Formats: sequence, structure tokens, C-alpha cells
Amino acid sequence: MDAYRTKVAERIRLPDRSARERALEAAGYNLFNLDARDVYVDLLTDSGTGAMSDAQWGALQRGDESYAGSKSFGRLERAVADVMGFEHVVPAHQGRGAENVLYGTLLSDGDVVPNNTHFDTTRAHVANQGADPVDCPSPDADDPDVDAPFKGDFSIERGRELVAEVGADAIPAVVLTITNNSAAGQPVSVANTREVADFAADIDAAFVIDACRFAENAYFVRERESEFADASVADIAREQLGYADAIVMSGKKDGLVNVGGFVATDDADVFEACKQRAILYEGFPTYGGMAGRDMEALAVGLREAVEAAYVADRVAQVQRLGESLADAGLPVFEPIGGHAVYLDAAATLPHVPAAEFPGQALACELYLEGGVRGVELGSLAFPDTDRPELVRLAVPRRTYGADHIDHVVETARDVLDRRESISGLALASEPPIPELRHFTAELEPVGASATPSS
Ligand code: F0G
Repeated sequence: MDAYRTKVAERIRLPDRSARERALEAAGYNLFNLDARDVYVDLLTDSGTGAMSDAQWGALQRGDESYAGSKSFGRLERAVADVMGFEHVVPAHQGRGAENVLYGTLLSDGDVVPNNTHFDTTRAHVANQGADPVDCPSPDADDPDVDAPFKGDFSIERGRELVAEVGADAIPAVVLTITNNSAAGQPVSVANTREVADFAADIDAAFVIDACRFAENAYFVRERESEFADASVADIAREQLGYADAIVMSGKKDGLVNVGGFVATDDADVFEACKQRAILYEGFPTYGGMAGRDMEALAVGLREAVEAAYVADRVAQVQRLGESLADAGLPVFEPIGGHAVYLDAAATLPHVPAAEFPGQALACELYLEGGVRGVELGSLAFPDTDRPELVRLAVPRRTYGADHIDHVVETARDVLDRRESISGLALASEPPIPELRHFTAELEPVGASATPSS
């Protein structure tokens, strides 16, 4: 049953096939370079792309833009305390701003940081402090065919091996990302969260949770972890986050806003250090990187994110997309994650070698076929790794309806039907930082660069 109806309408258009071909060519076969107006269903990311509720739009009007001691900050503090259980909050402009604030205070040169799987910006901020980000995913995390309930879990075994290798003194923080975005959006169990908290305490490290998708994670815990079958999503979320010493949050995901984020903690020393760093990089600690009105919307969004009807509707839509794609014959990463469906591009286009970017080729074809924009997460985004060739279709929250989902499925089915005719891509220009190349690189169809070298 739908939990929402539309109050504000945004006109969207599907450009005709020849216009899509021109747009893709002009974008250098990189979907980040497309104009959003040329996209019909935009599944590039679930971050900051959702629809705010009428209550959030109403709250915007209440925004108190005082430089210091804003009333809106007080409302955000109370929402974080009620929903997530932390006393202290330092707002930031978005998740990566919060990462800079927290990791800049916890880490220094030569440190090592284990995480179930680092998201790109987390990895970059850890590295930016001179520390070494090390992934400790559960062994079946990357296997698209293993159907396990909590493939996002942190491998304690891998964590202990790391301690044996580098020594406990080198590890000031252990991070748990819920849900595990870089591992196909898979959830993390509360049982694993407790183990990671014990592991961090054993080695005297701070336990940090990246809470971007904490509400979706709590929903999966209720569905899949028997201890919590009768608990509410709100109670599970508080319990799971309660094991952490500090959290980093991007409000653009389960905060249900278009911009904003924060660090939250009960630790007075961490709080003091974060405030100082926030003044330097974000803003005075009672607004950090946010406008008062945006703190109001985030305060309301956090409370809405753990409402049973919201989160059930949200996860059901993503599951329906994934199940329909699988029914249509697409190789879908199983189980389906909380915010996105991941397609196995290597299995979809077995004739396209990894060197010709099968994920990017598939993402481009989805755009050409139906104006659907996803994102490649394979050898273009992660050069020189053996990560699987995936295309992520991330679903914005409360934004698209059943017809859009059906359109995506039909588009993918049509691409699958003519997959033999799809060829690979080659890099035409490569940006200087390999880890960031998928944002701006330009490509061309294999065989297109027939210009003879002189
Ligand atoms: N941590 C995780 C797990 C994330 O998924 C993201 C963003 C961030 C931190 C950074 O937050 O964007 O507010 O600065 N993920 C987006 C995505 C960009 O498309 O998955 P941010």
C-alpha cells in the first residue's frame, strides 16, 4: 500500500532516441556529464535526491538563522537525542564534511582504520589524515549469488588479523558502515554491531558508526534478526547506534533532506575536539555547515525516517524494482539492498571484457534505451581492484511511483534482449586522480577512435 501521495509536481520528459544519442555522445559516454533535463528516471544516487514531506517544508519556515545558539540547532539536537540517542551534535554541510570533522580529530599519520567497507569519501578522508583505510567485509560480501541475511557485516576475524599485523596501538578507530553501501547496500546485524563494539573496546579504539542509512538497516534487522522480530524500527535504530562512541551522518540519505549532515557523540572530549575543527572547516558549532532552515527540515526528517510506514514503503519499492528486474532475467545482486539494486554487468554482457568497462557500457545502454540513469561501480570507478562489475540503480526516497519503476524494468528488459549488439567502451580522456576518474572521464565506443596516429 502506498504511504504517500504527490503534493508538488515536477515535469519530466523522455527525450526521443536521437536526442538521447546526441546527449550521450556530448557527455563523452559519462552519465555524470548529462544534463538532468535529458534524464527520465534518475537513479544515479539516493543521496539528497529525495522528496521532503509537507511537514519538512513547513518546518523550513521556522528556520532560525542566528549565528550562535540557533533555536533550529536546539530542535536538531533534540531529534538526534530522541531518534539516535546521542547528547552532542556538530552539524556539517553533508556527510563528507562530518567525516572531515570527526576523522580529522581521531586520526593521525600512520594510523590504520578498519571498516566493513569504506565508502569512497570515507576512504579519502581517512587517507587524507595520513591513515590507512582497510576493508574488513564479511567473506561472502562480494559474491552476488550467496543469499545471506547480513552480507554487510564486519569480519571480526579480518579485524583481528589486522591487529596482529599492525598492532592495536596503530588503530585509534574502528568504523562500521550501516547499511554497507560499497557492498551492494547490504545490512549489518545488531549481533555483529555488538561484536564490533567489543572488538573496538578490546583494542581501546573508538567505535564509529557511519549511520547514513541507519533506518533502512534497522528495518532489515527487524525482518531478519529473530531477536528483533517484535521490536519497532525506531527502537532497533536507537539500540544499534547506541553501541557507537560516535556517528557520522549524511542527512541526504536517511535524514530525508537534500543537504546536511553531522557528527554525534556522548563523549565530551570527542565533542570538544570536533567543535574546534568544525569552526575551521564548517562553521560555528551551532550551525556547522547548515542553514537554520535546513537543520529544521533535518530534525523532522530524522523522526520521519524511523516511522514504520515510511521505511516499509521505502524498502518495499527498492525490493520490487530488484525482484522485477530479476524476473525479467537481469542478473541482480542478491539479496537486494536497502537503497539500490545492483546489476551484475559482467554477467549481463559476458562478451565485453573488463578492459572495455562492461558496467559503463550497460549504464549507457540503459540511458539510450529508456532515459534511465544509473551509475557504474566497477572497473571504471575502481581502477586496479578486483571489485565486481556492477551498475547501481539507487532509488531516491519518496520520489518515483510504480510507473517509473515499471519503466526501468521494461528498459532493462529491452537492453537485455539486444545485449549481443552492445559493445564496450574505451577511455578517451583520463583525469589526473585515478580514484575520482569515473566522475569526469570521457569515453568512446570501442573502435571509434580510428584516427591514425601520425
Ligand atoms: N558514507 C556513506 C556510506 C555514503 O554512502 C556517503 C555518500 C557518504 C558517507 C558521504 O555523504 O554525500 O553527504 O557527503 N554516498 C552517496 C552515494 C554520494 O551516492 O552513495 P555525503
